[in-house]
Amino acid sequence: MSTLPGTVVAITGASSGIGAATARLLAERGATVVLGARRTDRLEELAERIRAAGGRAATCAVDVTEPAGLEQFVGLAVTEFGRLDVLVNNAGIGRIGPMAELDTASWSAMIEVNLRGVLNGIAAALPVFRRQGRGHLVTTLSTAGLRIVPDQGVYAGTKNAVRTLLEGLRQESTDGVLRTTSVSPGYVRTEFADHIEDPAARARAAENMREFGLDPEAVARAIAFAIEQPHEVEIGEITLRPTRQG
Ligand SMILES: NC(=O)c1ccc[n+]([C@@H]2O[C@H](COP(=O)([O-])OP(=O)(O)OC[C@H]3O[C@@H](n4cnc5c(N)ncnc54)[C@H](OP(=O)(O)O)[C@@H]3O)[C@@H](O)[C@H]2O)c1
Repeated sequence: MSTLPGTVVAITGASSGIGAATARLLAERGATVVLGARRTDRLEELAERIRAAGGRAATCAVDVTEPAGLEQFVGLAVTEFGRLDVLVNNAGIGRIGPMAELDTASWSAMIEVNLRGVLNGIAAALPVFRRQGRGHLVTTLSTAGLRIVPDQGVYAGTKNAVRTLLEGLRQESTDGVLRTTSVSPGYVRTEFADHIEDPAARARAAENMREFGLDPEAVARAIAFAIEQPHEVEIGEITLRPTRQG
């Protein structure tokens, strides 16, 4: 029996890929989902499908680089559904490429979305979790931070900065209120590579995804596993990658 019915989960980056697959799976298992991203047409379409299948879903336009957007997003969960049990900080971009190209605009964009975006999510959700006496932060990191490879240094840096701050937060949160989970996937077949500007890096990432990338539902199942545990059980880190990935 899933523990998800009655659980309210807000997911950033829910308009495609891992976020959308997570929303679908959690809703199927009975969770109420709040979907956030910038492309609201996509969010509405997904929410409609969830509702048509008997689930509960709300949508919110969110740019994670803006603190006020995250506050509104978290606030929507509370006003619509009475509480927020889990925030999945999943929105992320990978504008990867060789550092020697000095694409500093892409470096800044990754820092803003992947690092500041997660901090904005934490800042919005923590007061709600503290008020409720419990809450769970789930964050999508990457195996790029575990095995550092060419083209991905800055991207990996943003993911590992988040890994570090989540451990700091965990150490400060041993009063039993907050659970933190980071999920580090390897290659997953999503739209992620489409947003890589460097043509060679984009082609390599797209080929790896095509050749052996995981279905995003594999990551959704890992996230569901962490959320479904009883509150006293914190799944700290999950790494999942294609069996064929080096
Ligand atoms: N695919 C992989 O191989 C892989 C591997 C490891 C980790 N990851 C991580 O998995 C997460 C999800 O990526 P994905 O693979 O599912 O890629 P994706 O299909 O490109 O999805 C990325 C999501 O992030 C959202 N997003 C981007 N910038 C945003 C912003 N400023 N504000 C709000 N939302 C924003 C996008 O929505 P909008 O454009 O509609 O705003 C979209 O929903 C990312 O954190 C990524 O780093 C992916």
